[in-house]
Amino acid sequence: CLWVRNLRFKRRLPGPFAWPVVGNIMQLGQMPHITFTKLAKKYGNVYQIRLGCSDIVVLNGERTIRQALIQHSVEFAGRPKFVSFQVVSGGKSMTFTSYSKQWKMHRKIAQSTIRAFSSANSQTKRSFEQQIVAEATELVGIFLALSSQGQYFNPSHGLTVAAANVICALCFGKRYGHDDVEFRALLKKTDQFGQTVGAGSLVDMMPWLQSFPNPVYSVFKNFKILNKEFFGFIQNKVEEHRETFDPDVTRDMSDAFIGVFDKVDSDNGLTKDYTEATVSDLIGAGLDTIATGLHWIVLLLAKHSEIQTKLHEIIDKVVGPDRLPSIQDRSRLAYLDAFIYETMRFTSFVPVTIPHSTTSDVTVDGLHIPKDTVVFINQWSVNHDPLKWKDPHIFDPSRFLDENGLLDKDLTNNVMIFSAGKRRCIGEQIAKVEMFLFFAILLHQCRFEKHPNEDMSLNCSYGLTLKPLDYRITAKPRGKLLNGQW
Ligand code: HEM
Repeated sequence: CLWVRNLRFKRRLPGPFAWPVVGNIMQLGQMPHITFTKLAKKYGNVYQIRLGCSDIVVLNGERTIRQALIQHSVEFAGRPKFVSFQVVSGGKSMTFTSYSKQWKMHRKIAQSTIRAFSSANSQTKRSFEQQIVAEATELVGIFLALSSQGQYFNPSHGLTVAAANVICALCFGKRYGHDDVEFRALLKKTDQFGQTVGAGSLVDMMPWLQSFPNPVYSVFKNFKILNKEFFGFIQNKVEEHRETFDPDVTRDMSDAFIGVFDKVDSDNGLTKDYTEATVSDLIGAGLDTIATGLHWIVLLLAKHSEIQTKLHEIIDKVVGPDRLPSIQDRSRLAYLDAFIYETMRFTSFVPVTIPHSTTSDVTVDGLHIPKDTVVFINQWSVNHDPLKWKDPHIFDPSRFLDENGLLDKDLTNNVMIFSAGKRRCIGEQIAKVEMFLFFAILLHQCRFEKHPNEDMSLNCSYGLTLKPLDYRITAKPRGKLLNGQW
């Protein structure tokens, strides 16, 4: 029966020849999303590859991806049962669990809690924004100190701590110093996370590689250790919250989740330990993504100094020197948003979503895909489609502005980096507010310049996120922040 199913699957879907044992692994290269896009030119937007022992369908192009994720949202809402997915958040992750009634409830709780602490009313909006402003201003001070006497530095660590602090403040009501050794060590470990769960990770494609010592085996072993340590850190923090929990005062998201999941009579299967799992999911998802986005923003600012000059002129005109930019300035700072959208489109720093799987048989572009098929969604192909974007390989924020200098919403909606449908990112709104405020404050206070010997290449490492390789910049002060005039 399985043989007949496979035969039907193999016959109906186009795709490259797959070698025994490894399948198409050797063809993926360093940047699988580019390979997937090239293969789409040859085989169409829906094709099949084989990685180790898994048959995988790759979806490309805006129309095909939206047709799948929106018109067939339930059919494409599953997650594969990968070994690496079972290790995350104590095995109770919402992100890495397949579609079910319980998962729907879990996602709803996570989503409404994020909203309650970031945008539910003017008070929560304000305190969320104040948190970001505090982190951004501290970061300005750190960058300027690292640049004293014209020194050059790698902004990676500062950006990661700042992004981590925003999500830690939401979850625990606590932030960490940039020099906190324990926190630094924890963040360093999470760097590796995306390489193991990103589409095409060898651990999941060839699970038998875990049975004897080899490089993939040691990557997976490290992955298990880092997840255990990261989850242990979350467990400790949540336990501290339980000890001081007061049902009448919800201090932060950990308290909110305790209030929901720790109820003894939970009849939806979401028991007490889902509190730790949900906090771990949100910190994991909100940390690396935002830090990587900011990392690219700073790189592209330093690389395109003429665009930076234009941004400075705009921010000086709209905000002026006597106050910091705020979220209220956003509509008048459309060029900043255009820069952020172009960074997301151009780098596509989450190039392929977390792998999906089909929850039932489904047909896309006239091609039949059976239930339980692993599906890769190539977001990069949407953002670089030459039919949709003029000169997609050129970085040009002004493509998002209309003739009146306003943000072209039809065009910004075409950028795909938060996915779509039932699995769409639940942190999109907070991510956009965070990136805007960090960017606006850094820009208002600093001019970033690249090291004369570095060409600020766009080379990066592949994983769930695309991370720029190490680079150095210097920051020149251009604001009053350090003089303490506000
Ligand atoms: C899932 C992108 C920030 C929470 C995802 C997915 C993508 C994504 C591509 C996978 C969707 C899929 O599998 O189809 C991004 C980007 C971010 C960002 C580009 C920042 C620029 C955040 C933040 C949070 C968050 C700040 C929360 C605090 C989540 C969660 C999921 C998710 C919980 C899993 C959803 C599910 O499986 O149902 N995100 N994300 N993300 N994101 Fe984000």
